[in-house]
Amino acid sequence: MRNFISYSFIKAILILSIITVMALNAFASDTTLKSIAPFPFGASVNVTLLRNNPTYRTIAAREYNSLTAENVMKMASIHPGINTYSWDNADTLVNFARQNNQRIHGHTLVWHQSLPGWVTNFAGDSAAWENILKTHIQNVVSHYAGRLASWDVVNEAFNDNGTLRNSIWLQHLGPDYIARCFKYAHEADPSALLFYNDYGHEYSASKLNAIDSLIKSFLQNGVPVHGLGLQMHINKNTSNSSIANAIKVMAQTGLKVHISELDIALNPEGNQSLTFTSALSQLQADKYNFIVRAYKNIPAAQQYGITTWNVSDADTWITINYSRPDWPLLFDSTYQKKQAYYAIIEGLTSNWNYDAAAAQSASGSYTDLGNNGAAITTNFAGDTMTFDDDNSTVQNIGFNFNYNGSSYHQFVLNTNGFIKLGANAPSSVSLFYPTYNANTNGVITAPDVDLLYPYNHDLMGTVTTEYRVYTSGLPGARICTIQYKNVADKLSPEQYSNMNFQVKLHEAGNIIEFVYGLWTASANTSTLITAAAGIKGSYVNNSVNLVKGSGNSWSLPLSTANGIYFINGDYASAGRQFNTRNSVLPDVGRTYRFTTLAITTLPVTLLDFKAVDKRTGIFISWLTANEVSSKDFEIQQSLNGGDFTSISTVMAKGNNSQATNSYSFTDENIASLKGSIYYRLKQNDVDGRSKFSHIITIQRNNEKQMLSITAQNPFTNDFKMQITSGTAGRISLFVINVTGNVLLRKDVQIVAGTTIIAFKETGHLPRGIYLIKGIRDNEASTIKLLKE
Ligand code: G3I
Repeated sequence: MRNFISYSFIKAILILSIITVMALNAFASDTTLKSIAPFPFGASVNVTLLRNNPTYRTIAAREYNSLTAENVMKMASIHPGINTYSWDNADTLVNFARQNNQRIHGHTLVWHQSLPGWVTNFAGDSAAWENILKTHIQNVVSHYAGRLASWDVVNEAFNDNGTLRNSIWLQHLGPDYIARCFKYAHEADPSALLFYNDYGHEYSASKLNAIDSLIKSFLQNGVPVHGLGLQMHINKNTSNSSIANAIKVMAQTGLKVHISELDIALNPEGNQSLTFTSALSQLQADKYNFIVRAYKNIPAAQQYGITTWNVSDADTWITINYSRPDWPLLFDSTYQKKQAYYAIIEGLTSNWNYDAAAAQSASGSYTDLGNNGAAITTNFAGDTMTFDDDNSTVQNIGFNFNYNGSSYHQFVLNTNGFIKLGANAPSSVSLFYPTYNANTNGVITAPDVDLLYPYNHDLMGTVTTEYRVYTSGLPGARICTIQYKNVADKLSPEQYSNMNFQVKLHEAGNIIEFVYGLWTASANTSTLITAAAGIKGSYVNNSVNLVKGSGNSWSLPLSTANGIYFINGDYASAGRQFNTRNSVLPDVGRTYRFTTLAITTLPVTLLDFKAVDKRTGIFISWLTANEVSSKDFEIQQSLNGGDFTSISTVMAKGNNSQATNSYSFTDENIASLKGSIYYRLKQNDVDGRSKFSHIITIQRNNEKQMLSITAQNPFTNDFKMQITSGTAGRISLFVINVTGNVLLRKDVQIVAGTTIIAFKETGHLPRGIYLIKGIRDNEASTIKLLKE
């Protein structure tokens, strides 16, 4: 069927237009963000605008069920003098929110910015600093106790490189100040939920890791923390996969996750003459849509909500702060809803949870089904069976496959390389992606919903063609394989005289795979075929499609630079198509995998994970609980903190959800490594899901041999000690009692190798246990001795 500008095409366009009109009508005027979102949807508000601008006030009341103060609860506003609090502005916001039944999230108790002058000029010892920190937190939290649901207790305590920010608080109070802030806030209002809030989770792996480690240490030590705020001040260039990763890593702490200050800047370059074009509007709308869909997929109990950072483009901090034109929010500067607003509504209502950011390419193996399962005939509703432009009879999947909000147990196979889920035939037998005309009559723009197309083009049979379906595996982890065997394309001149490929539906995790087997090139001249490969939900934008240059290998790692990558939505332009030709065949076993954005907490709990440098090797150990359907642990190493490779795999000890299991592994290939070495675990589940641990960093400096101290033990009055070091220099020796008090200090010169030091100053010490600690630069060695 080559005459593709057909009646069915015109029908398709008509139906699409109807769907679009219906979609717009569905967002009736009483639709609001708060009425549609399954979690609280909020905005930060400016109190001056709330008082003076009636339109602003109307939107603030109508659209949101959670409000945050953009500025008026910061220390400079609310606590302007050491003994003066100014509640007026914050109270205005609190009263407004309570009148409108809105949740109030407090922002922020402890920050390095927006400090009043009396704090920046404060002179006092650490006890005096502790007192102002505690007093501030407790006075503010108790003033609002019972009225505010939650607080950003500490804001932006980390630098982008994961170290603690050298704020006034760190300088005067030391690194544990963060934990104490949470403790003080909790004492003042035990019912308030307490958040750690920061930015950059999506661009800095080091910061993400540092926050993750801080939270894990809080949880281990009983610090009262309940949630994580991801500010998410992002821009049009922020990658969806980095956003999804940030949400996922934070959700895996098990705490509530608040996207707390969302905005999407369109002019990060600071171009003073930039205007707001429809292309920029679309880009922004797509990213807002992605964020709400990704967020919807974390467990409901952890969804604390999404808050945008103010209401309209007229109110945003970005244009003021960066002195540039920009349009980061959901309402334009005249308070009209933008495309971004509708994209959020669509994302909130849609069931589509596949995404280009969650699609993968892998090398696997291709196993022909042989006689397993059942051969499929292509004579839908009793017509004559052919291998050209035909649909199969209705086939069984063998389990319920959840896709795009429906639970399917059947499908129809079409000979043009696509599957339609459900029991209905597609709208046309001859839907295929036509060569040289990428945007008409293919599966993507067809009115049909819920299509899977491993190779959608004008295909036909050969003398040995067979279609087959086979469902294997145990309930909960069954796999339905649908196989196209020995088919050919109908291009003139034909490109592939033989093609084999499969669609695999995984019951566990709703994963879809396309697996390609042996393809044979025809003897004809190599010619471009523009086909389609991907999956589609309810309409064009609910599709994930593979882009590939015809000369590019099917196995190249996915990237735009490599010319092979996944996109959301239609190909829609030259240079952004799925092109193939007979000179480049798929490698046997090539697998394209579509996974959902769902973030589920895996059964295995990692109780502890540590690494110790034993000089001849790095000793890595971990402890787990709740091992259910656990397969193995990959130990992964990185030398730059970003690119990890697996260095070994340790099998899981068993699936006993009652017991704890301990594991260890020693990395001995470290002799040539210097500087930072990063380790993490990848825990693999039997059903193909996996989870990463936090990252551990080991610092190695091969030039210096570590300091080591040995001594006679027990001792009586004085004693001798041996200090071994790779380099000569001065070291400080301390004698410390069991309560941690330093009793003696002695600075000594040591040589490279072993130095013997006689310690004669200990005669007057009472009998008991002492620690002897030697410190030099960042090296330390401690021994415990008994005085008799
Ligand atoms: O209060 C003075 C006012 O008296 C004066 O008339 C006016 C003139 O410019 O300035 C007012 O202060 C400004 C304040 O906003 C209120 O408008 C400050 O100069 C200005 O620095 C301040 O900026 C705020 C910034 O935090 C610093 O506090 C932004 O509005 C606010 O959007 C921004 O929000 C932060 C979050 O708290 C934390 N995460 C990042 C986010 C964006 O930077």
